[in-house]
This record gives sequence, C-alpha cells and structure tokens, in this order.
Amino acid sequence: MLKYMHRVFYITGLLATVQVTLLLQSDQSFHPQKVETFPSLPPAENIQLLIHKYIFAALPRTQRGQPIVLGGDPKGKNFLYTNGNSVIIRNIENPAISDVYTEHSCAANVAKYSPSGFYIASGDQSGKVRIWDTVNKEHLLKNEFQPIGGPIKDIAWSPDSQRMVVVGEGRERFGHVFMAETGTSVGEISGQSKSINSCDFRPARPFRIVTGCEDNTIGVFEGPPFKFKMTKQEHTRFVQAVRYSPNGSHFASAGFDGKVFLYDGSSADLIGEIGSPAHKGGVYAVAWKPDGSQLLTASGDKTCKLWDVETKSVVTEFVMGSQVEDQQVSCLWQGQYLLTVSLSGFINYLDVNNPNKHIRIIKGHNKPITVLSVSPDQKKIYTGSHDGFITHWDSSTGENDRIQGVGHGNQINGMKIIGDSLYTCGIDDSVKQVDIASNNYTSADIKLGSQPHGMDAKGDTIITASVKEISVLQEGRKVSSLPVSYEPSCVSINSEHPDVAVGGALDNKVHIYTLVGSSLSPKTELEHLGPLTDCSYSPDSQYLVACDANRKVILYKLPDYQLAHNKEWGFHNARVNTVAWSPNSQLVASGSLDTAIIIWSVLNPAKHTIIKNAHPQSQITRLAWLDDGTLVSVGQDCNTKIWNITAF
Ligand SMILES: *[C@@H]1O[C@H](CO)[C@@H](O)[C@H](O)[C@H]1NC(C)=O
Ligand SMILES: *[C@@H]1O[C@H](CO)[C@@H](O)[C@H](O)[C@H]1NC(C)=O
Ligand SMILES: *[C@@H]1O[C@H](CO)[C@@H](O)[C@H](O)[C@H]1NC(C)=O
Repeated sequence: MLKYMHRVFYITGLLATVQVTLLLQSDQSFHPQKVETFPSLPPAENIQLLIHKYIFAALPRTQRGQPIVLGGDPKGKNFLYTNGNSVIIRNIENPAISDVYTEHSCAANVAKYSPSGFYIASGDQSGKVRIWDTVNKEHLLKNEFQPIGGPIKDIAWSPDSQRMVVVGEGRERFGHVFMAETGTSVGEISGQSKSINSCDFRPARPFRIVTGCEDNTIGVFEGPPFKFKMTKQEHTRFVQAVRYSPNGSHFASAGFDGKVFLYDGSSADLIGEIGSPAHKGGVYAVAWKPDGSQLLTASGDKTCKLWDVETKSVVTEFVMGSQVEDQQVSCLWQGQYLLTVSLSGFINYLDVNNPNKHIRIIKGHNKPITVLSVSPDQKKIYTGSHDGFITHWDSSTGENDRIQGVGHGNQINGMKIIGDSLYTCGIDDSVKQVDIASNNYTSADIKLGSQPHGMDAKGDTIITASVKEISVLQEGRKVSSLPVSYEPSCVSINSEHPDVAVGGALDNKVHIYTLVGSSLSPKTELEHLGPLTDCSYSPDSQYLVACDANRKVILYKLPDYQLAHNKEWGFHNARVNTVAWSPNSQLVASGSLDTAIIIWSVLNPAKHTIIKNAHPQSQITRLAWLDDGTLVSVGQDCNTKIWNITAF
C-alpha cells in the first residue's frame, strides 16, 4: 500500500485560526502531527490547503574515494542516507515516498535506526550525534551529544538499543562508546592511530565492537565497559567497512586493498579471505544476507559481487558500468532488497537472478535543483540541476530517468516545453533541445554569446535573457538580439499579446517590450524596489506577476500594467526567487530564499497561505503547477516536493 502524508491547513473567517495537522494513511511510522494554532489572519474565505507531501528525494551526496553508509530499517520498510544537512528516510518499496530530516546545522554524514526501530541516530561533520524519534512526524529530538570533535563517519547501536559506538575523524579521539539515553561513556575507542571509517556492534552476547581504520587495521573491543583488545592487521590499505553477520557469528571487513576478510565474531580469529582478492579496486562496503549465508561487496572497480560465506567464492558478479561515476561506494542488504550506491549517487536495486539488469535504479539529483518544468499533460516533471543533469519524473509514481545525450555539462538556468521539445539554456551559453518522446538531447545547439539567466518560449520563438542582451531565437538559430545594460534576470512571453516582460537585476525594473517578427521594441517599464528575480504572465494572458530581491511579489493587470490590487504581497522575509501561476490563473505561488512558499489568491488578494519551511534550511529555487490543485517545488536541498493545494 502506498502511504501518504497530508498536512492540512484550515483557514476560517473572522477571528480565524489556522490549524496545521498531518493526516496519514496506512503508515505506522508516521503519526498525526500535533495541531498547531497560529495567530489570527485577516478576514478570508475558507481556504483549505491540503498538502500532499510527496517527496522525490535527493540522492545520496557522494564523493570520490569516500565510502558512504546506508542505514537499514529493522522493520524493513525504509532506508537511510544523507545529503547536505538532510537525512533522507526513503521507502524501500516505493522510493517516491520519503521523509527528510533537516535539523543538523552542518552536513549530516550517516544515520542509523536503533534496533528497536524507535530512534534514528544521525552524525554530522562537526562530530554531533542527534538521536531522534521515528514515530512522530516532527521527529522530536531525544538527545544530542558530541562524542568526537570532527566528522562522524559511522554509527552502530548495541542490539538492545541502549549503547552506541560512533567513529570518525576527531581531534583527540577517533571514536567513542556511550549510553544513548544519557551520553555516559561506556568505554574507549583507542589503539588506532588514524581516522576510523567504519564500526559495528556485535548483535549478540558477548558484546564486541569492531572498527575499520585508515591505519589499515581493524580494532577489536570487548566490554562493556569497552576496552581495546587487539588490532587485526590483514589489510594493507585503509579498512573501509566492518560488519557483523546478522547473528554475530562472524564479521567481515573490506579494504582499499581490494580485499575482504572473514573473522570469527567472538574471538576475532581470522577465518579466511573472501576471493583473492575480492575486487580489482578498493572495496567500499560489505553487507550480509539476512540469513548470514552470503555477502555483498561494493567496489571502486565498478562491480558488486555476491559471495558464498561457507566456500568464500563468488556467486554472482554485477558489472555496474564503465565510467568513473559507476564506482560502487555503498551497499545494503535489507530483506529481499540488495541496494548499492554508485558514485553518481544513483541507488541501484540489484537482481540476484539477473546481474545484467537492475530491478530499479533511483536517479534524480544530488546537487541543487535550478530549473523545473511540467509537461502540458501533467504526466511528467522535468528538473535540472547545478551540475547540468536533467531528470524526468513520472508525476504520479516518481519513477525517473535522466535525459541522455550531450547536455550543458554545467548549471542549467532555464527550461521550457514547447510541443514535443524541451528547450534548456545553461551557463555554457547555449540553448539545447531535448526530444521528449525519446528523452534524448537532439543535436540542436544554439550559441548565445553571453550567459543566459532565463528563457521563455512561445510557438516557434524562444527568448533568452542573458547578461548583456535579450536574444530572439527562431528556427533553431539566433535571429536578433537587443543589447541591454540592466542585466536581465528573467523573461516571460505573453501567450496572446505580443508583449514580452524582462526583469532587470541592476535597475530594479520590469521592462515590457513588444515583439514584432523577431524584433523587440520597448513599451513600458515597471519599477520595483529591488533586483527582479522572476516574472510570469498568467496563462489567461490577463496578468503579469513579478518578484524581486526586496521580498515583494507584485501583480500587474494587462493591458496597461496597472497594479492589480492595493494589497501588499510582501510576506516573504527574504529574496523571492520564483513565481508560478496555477493553470486557471487564479493562484500565484511564490518561493523564496526564506525557505517558504506562499500561495496568493488573485480573486481575493487579501488571502494568502504560507507554507513555512517548505524546504527546511533550503531556499526554494523554482515552482510549477501540475494542475490547479497541485504544486511542485524544487530547492537547493536537491529535493522535489509535490503539494496538494485546494482553495475554495
Ligand atoms: C549464525 O549464522 C550462521 C550462518 O547462517 C550459522 O551457521 C550459525 O549456526 C548461526 N549461529 C547461531 C549461534 O545461531
Ligand atoms: C538516446 O541516446 C542514447 C545515448 O546517447 C542512445 O543510445 C539511444 O539510442 C537514443 N535513443 C533514441 C530513441 O534516440
Ligand atoms: C488533494 O486534495 C483533494 C481535495 O481534498 C483530494 O480530493 C485529492 O484526493 C487530493 N489528492 C491527492 C493526490 O492526495
């Protein structure tokens, strides 16, 4: 069953209160959010914003040469990873369902469920561990500790969920063991001389801890209280992963020497080497089959391998690709699912019966999303990121893939669908075309001559707003350009009238032009109090909305661009980055640096609703409506969120 989370805002008339609740369906781990009451808003008709929190989540943030840790769920439902400040809780069966925890004040590196399933412990770059509730939607913080003074790289809980070991790159020490409830020390992680990459807690008595270190050793600790017992020195390069088997009878280690070793779980005696060596490149991760009979390894040699523990021989090899981006930096075996993470950030679901074809590959973005478009039939969402990739998503299932072919290779600044084509402009100073039937770039490549900040298109005309000029493109080439000195930041073409609006970053004005053939002639100018950031004509061609860095959203009525109302749409606390019209031209959504989205009503301009922290700790970069009740937002946090919005 799919699980949805809903957050409901009710705004009633005079003396109104706004209630925020979270409605849930069939999802045990998410419970109704507590009802919050906000102060009274101005008189308004009833607005209901039913927010359907579908999140097409960011991919794991990967880095060359660095293993990352996937956290498994004792209940088998979700898996955990991190990207920037966010911990992502992703449904393993339906990865379109995600929850994002964004309470760390710096990059979160690892997150692990307690064996009880009630808590998640997440560790960050500064050495802090936050232990928080998985049961409540708000993920109440239970405890925060700082066990080490530098980046945390791995965390393991004791089987009774009472203790935890944390390792990484501290200044005074490379790890610590403590009580999850109180932070009280229950031993020492010592005896190793460099950064520790991996740790595990023996899931059975007698308790043991093992650690994998960049001094090439495995540390073995006995307790509680835990004390250094010995190092194992079979590896000749960094030890990247150590993991106990599910019943603790063994542990396995994986290293940058390409080797995998198997040890007795209680005595730590070497049992033998798995493969010889297991991989041609460094091994980043190892995961046990739940019954303990097989091991999965992930390697920088761009393969993953399945091993029989008894015979220590390979059962299946998965060739993951031939590019650097296909290096395998993590793996997790949870129930029937074998997951690996490529250096690209892609999450691969391996099929043991068919090593050549993965069951699923979760793609998306792990760099900030800069552009967004939806297809006219509302079935597809297109997102483009800072690193130049474009992802197309099925809007109802979140299934996704990347646009193939030669793209911009760098930040994409504009995107627009016209007919069967998606046009994009990027900071390689070109406009490119994607054939949306095949999801491939075509060979079209129109050079602009300066860096585009925005684009729009209508019929066979594309207009780009570049640093020094406004260019008109027709029939696949630049047919005219108008040099300007105000640094255009955005452009919108009216669909009925020949009007074109261009926002100025330097002069704080919206410049309205008339487009005749391929030439633009100035018509009027609209003054704002800050640099223009976005502008958009309404689908019914009756309005222009423009937003600026001075926190304002301003609505103009055509044909003479009078202010459409006397209300101030000024409730953002920082630069407004983007505005988007609902298809029926009745609602405007604005997204800001202040992390909020505001929905404004054109029919009743006194009415607005704020979705605070729509992307926590992340500015909203773009918005687009799928239909009159569904808004899509993207942010610097690399997440794409889908909101169900109903106004009545
Ligand atoms: C632990 O699992 C291994 C591998 O499946 C099995 O051979 C062994 O008997 C188990 N040990 C215990 C104590 O259950
Ligand atoms: C799309 O591009 C890929 C790689 O560039 C190519 O293999 C594939 O055949 C193309 N598909 C279509 C339908 O053109
Ligand atoms: C969105 O909200 C409307 C109105 O309450 C509801 O009928 C609809 O089912 C919701 N859609 C989704 C996808 O949740």
